[in-house]
Amino acid sequence: MGILKNGELWKDVNGEPIHAHGGWMLYYNGYYYWYGEDRRENYYVSCYRSKNLTDWEFRNHIITTESKMEGYYVRTTLMLRNKNGGKINLERPKVLYNKKTKKFVLWVHVENGMDYHEAAVGIAECDSPDGDFVYYGHFNPYGYMSRDCTLFQEEDGTAYFISAARDNADLHMYRLTDDYKNVKKLVHKLYQGEYREAPAVVKYNGMYHMLTSFCTGWAPNQGKYACADSMEGEWSDLSEIGDSTTYQSQPAFLIERNGRMLYYGDRWGGDGEKYFASSYVIYPLEWENGKLTLKFVNEIDPMAYLNREGKI
Ligand code: GAL
Repeated sequence: MGILKNGELWKDVNGEPIHAHGGWMLYYNGYYYWYGEDRRENYYVSCYRSKNLTDWEFRNHIITTESKMEGYYVRTTLMLRNKNGGKINLERPKVLYNKKTKKFVLWVHVENGMDYHEAAVGIAECDSPDGDFVYYGHFNPYGYMSRDCTLFQEEDGTAYFISAARDNADLHMYRLTDDYKNVKKLVHKLYQGEYREAPAVVKYNGMYHMLTSFCTGWAPNQGKYACADSMEGEWSDLSEIGDSTTYQSQPAFLIERNGRMLYYGDRWGGDGEKYFASSYVIYPLEWENGKLTLKFVNEIDPMAYLNREGKI
């Protein structure tokens, strides 16, 4: 265990900076796996693992420019390198374990260049959480644009993909196929015209809770919160959470353990070289007076907090 200072670029157990931005956490076989963007060299998606949420061991770059490709989406024109041999852009990687197929499936926002016009989602798959994923290409779900995104998995295995559509104006929710490699149904067009980005969902106390940001590029803005009795049911109106900058962060993902929740956010550095100064924050999410509250803290021992030992 150990304390992490918010807004610092945390180091892994080898003393190297952790590059796992816009990330995601998957709990599997006693380990937390942390996936995220690594924009260095020929890397795309990094994977670290930890038992205590503080000591992170780098495991693999699960997708690189050299990743094996299989043509699952026949209309795919985009490879992991663009026509000029440069990298395409992969953002906000999310991974689920599929109990039926025994595969780990990655969904990631794909762009060819930085004008964000591709607005597609890429799919990759692997037999292990930290192996070399096979990339199947990208698509636009039912033809819709798909930018900032997240996944959510029910205990029965039903899974959902949520992504920003219509130039970020609407937030779509799709139910996935049983193998998690495609969308099966467009379930919701949420918050139409509200420009919600960076969605993150957690189930707590039998309810589904969603945090999102507004759309201001790398600059942080007022986070908003919504809830529902079921993923496919009616979602509440948006209400504000945190302060006008979401305590200088944008949502990455939410986790729950022992009836306690944590918010993980990115504190982005900005464009170009500034991106590499991007860091992370963890804030407790608490249920108070019938609504979710984000608590500002300068530092936290995440596992101690989840295990209810932590002072905040
Ligand atoms: C943010 C988005 C990030 C990244 C950035 C680029 O709004 O959440 O993932 O795409 O814009 O400006």
